Amino acid sequence: MRRAVCPGSFDPVTNGHVDVITRAAALYDELVVAVLVNPGKAGLFGVEERMELLRDAVADLPNVRVDSFSGLLVDYCRAHDVPVIVKGLRAVSDFEYELQMAQMNRELAGIETLFVPTAPQVGHLSSSLIKQIAGFGGDVSRLVPKAVLERLLAARDRSGAAGEGP
Ligand code: PNS
Repeated sequence: MRRAVCPGSFDPVTNGHVDVITRAAALYDELVVAVLVNPGKAGLFGVEERMELLRDAVADLPNVRVDSFSGLLVDYCRAHDVPVIVKGLRAVSDFEYELQMAQMNRELAGIETLFVPTAPQVGHLSSSLIKQIAGFGGDVSRLVPKAVLERLLAARDRSGAAGEGP
């Protein structure tokens, strides 16, 4: 079975992630979307909520599974018999760091990395920009799955009620 993992923070999943996941899913028998559990970084959404939103976003892709991991990605790959990491590349600015990580992951465990160039229509999306725009009341309805939009609006209402910024 050809298996790959698409790792990330996914706080929250955007249409850019969905583009990369959809295209990667067409290349492998099973694609695991793995959310990083990072105790040092709280994020807007908890890991369980990010996973729930991801599951909703990929519901029509039967060979995609959502999981979480902590620690080194290569340890997850080894433990779950996953030989390939899939990463989306939006721009040249992504490439430098991604190349370094890809080379390091291959050095550490012989895990290969496949880069998928994002579709130009979603190349400008990032979770952090989307959180910032939504937090200040901007329209991100075309940039994220519907369920994510609803959660972003709810988070904005909560922080507005608490008198906080995004
Ligand atoms: O969505 P992100 O935040 O850009 O994802 C980054 C991620 C989770 C893919 C990366 O930080 C990662 O692989 N973290 C796990 C820790 C690890 O393996 N570090 C060594 C990388 S060479």
